[in-house]
Amino acid sequence: MMFKRSSLKWLLAAAAALMLGGAQARPFDEIKKDGKIIIATEGQFAPFNYFQGTKLTGFEVDVAEAMAAKMGLKVEWKALGFDALLAGLRQDRWDMVIASHGITEERAKAVTFTEPHYCSGGVIVAKDAAIKTAKDLAGKVVSVQTGTTYLENVKKLAGVKEVKNFPQDTDARGALLTGRVDAWVTDRFVAKQALEANPSGGMRMGDFVFVERIASAVAKGNSSLAGEINKALAAILADGTHAGLSKKWFNEDIRCK
Ligand code: ARG
Repeated sequence: MMFKRSSLKWLLAAAAALMLGGAQARPFDEIKKDGKIIIATEGQFAPFNYFQGTKLTGFEVDVAEAMAAKMGLKVEWKALGFDALLAGLRQDRWDMVIASHGITEERAKAVTFTEPHYCSGGVIVAKDAAIKTAKDLAGKVVSVQTGTTYLENVKKLAGVKEVKNFPQDTDARGALLTGRVDAWVTDRFVAKQALEANPSGGMRMGDFVFVERIASAVAKGNSSLAGEINKALAAILADGTHAGLSKKWFNEDIRCK
């Protein structure tokens, strides 16, 4: 016999994994044994997930770290383009994604969402004071980030002249600042921070286009992990950790009510 029993076993497991079309998501037990959870985010969506120099930071980075601590896990962070994040769960490249994803039916077909860690929505930002409501977007050019609920919802509005989409939300913002579009639709708290950070930019915040519940996601059907994340989230909501982080980043409580 050329193979040891253990290598034969490994070969069979590998063959089975190949036939199933790829790696299997790590259940909580396995992550716990490893001691470390791999979490992916984007890092270009301040103040939720962004880089301060080379350091990944933001409300969601803090929330995820706090939840991991409750689960007794260390975090290994990965930062990737927004459109790669949910796809990577299916390929088992990371265990969890936290990047301000709104819970949608479409996404829920491909991934399992946890309970939401905040509630928000897409707002209109424009320089022209006459552009405030969804109706005002008629005949206008609007910028949004690719793959987001902003794109999806702005596309549904009647009369919008053109929706320009950008791989990063910061570029969608840049398009408004440089006058290439009439309005930018983004998260309410992202807009708020962008206005504060750029008082001379002339941007004004208008109405909500839609509201949404924002949650982490794990691979479709990884219920052991989703369950533990939900427990950890409930714990940080109950013990004041979440409220403290919310106060630190937004000076208000942004949990879902
Ligand atoms: N909330 C929006 C969505 O669900 C935007 C999320 C954008 N996140 C980011 N990290 N750029 O699609």
